[in-house]
Amino acid sequence: MSIITSDINQAQRLLNEGHLVAIPTETVYGLAGNALNPLAVSKIFEAKRRPFFDPLIVHIANENQLKLCVDEIPDKANLLMEKFWPGPLTLLFQKSNLIPDIVTSGLPKVAVRMPNHALTLSLLNGLEFPLAAPSANPFGYISPTCAEHVAKNLGDVILMVLDGGNCAVGLESTIVDASETPVKILRLGGVSVEEIEKCLGEAVLVQKSSSQPQAPGMLDSHYAPRKPMYWFNESIHALSSSRIGYLSFNHDLIGDIVFELSKKGDLVEAAAHLFQGMRWLDDQDVDCIVVKPFPDEGIGKAINDRLSRACQS
Ligand code: TXA
Ligand code: MG
Repeated sequence: MSIITSDINQAQRLLNEGHLVAIPTETVYGLAGNALNPLAVSKIFEAKRRPFFDPLIVHIANENQLKLCVDEIPDKANLLMEKFWPGPLTLLFQKSNLIPDIVTSGLPKVAVRMPNHALTLSLLNGLEFPLAAPSANPFGYISPTCAEHVAKNLGDVILMVLDGGNCAVGLESTIVDASETPVKILRLGGVSVEEIEKCLGEAVLVQKSSSQPQAPGMLDSHYAPRKPMYWFNESIHALSSSRIGYLSFNHDLIGDIVFELSKKGDLVEAAAHLFQGMRWLDDQDVDCIVVKPFPDEGIGKAINDRLSRACQS
């Protein structure tokens, strides 16, 4: 069983030796290894049972680490970095020769972000290499937003979870390719489309998910609980022999087993509780989980994106 601790010296020791450590970020917990060491990176794929065609995000805390990953920074990427780093924004860059192909699944671009979490920034600042880290969940399952989620799912295969409390944002980062025109959003996330367009002063293209994705985070079915999940409709009670768990935004769904995401009706708060709510309902004695679409604005778009991947169509 992995230990849960906030001792960054121990985390640094393990990472320097090529082991994996689960790390907190403001979005979700990541499963981290030395991004410049192909052997360490291969352990990440193995632990998550993640297919090798699904590339990883590289995490940095400073300019030196960024320079290890990329040779050139496009102007629009610079604007976005200045505005949103550290924060829930991942940018694509042409990769340097130091980044092993296994990190990018052979793609010419590498995904990089600077997470906004004090403990992980100090951890990174004490390392000479950046950290490759996908979300610390088994492939396809709901991402972890606290140390206990990680230990529950991956406790048998990793030595340590660095405990940084609950993730403040609770949804993965927004992935942006700012080297193309128009700028493309590959995955909706913690920074909204509106915020990105405002920063750049231009419209961006939001890529739709598909079953033949460019980025596997765009897979139609992803981030799903084990129990079937459905969009609410008026005939849902035809499932009346089933026990239904409701994932409710703000008193919008009523039943015996309900997880309320934001009593105030606040989208940012709802996002922070979303994965915790999905996990909680998945563990209840219910046959299925039902949810209604959220308002399609700000981070509500990213919430709807995750829900539509989790719901059966
Ligand atoms: O918030 C986050 O982004 C979290 C925390 C831990 O930083 N990480 C995360 O990683 O969500 P992961 O691996 O679960 O999702 C990363 C997504 C994948 O869907 C992957 O396909 C995409 O990023 N990605 C990574 N590198 C890419 C690349 N070179 N080109 C296109 N997509 C890429
Ligand atoms: Mg993931």
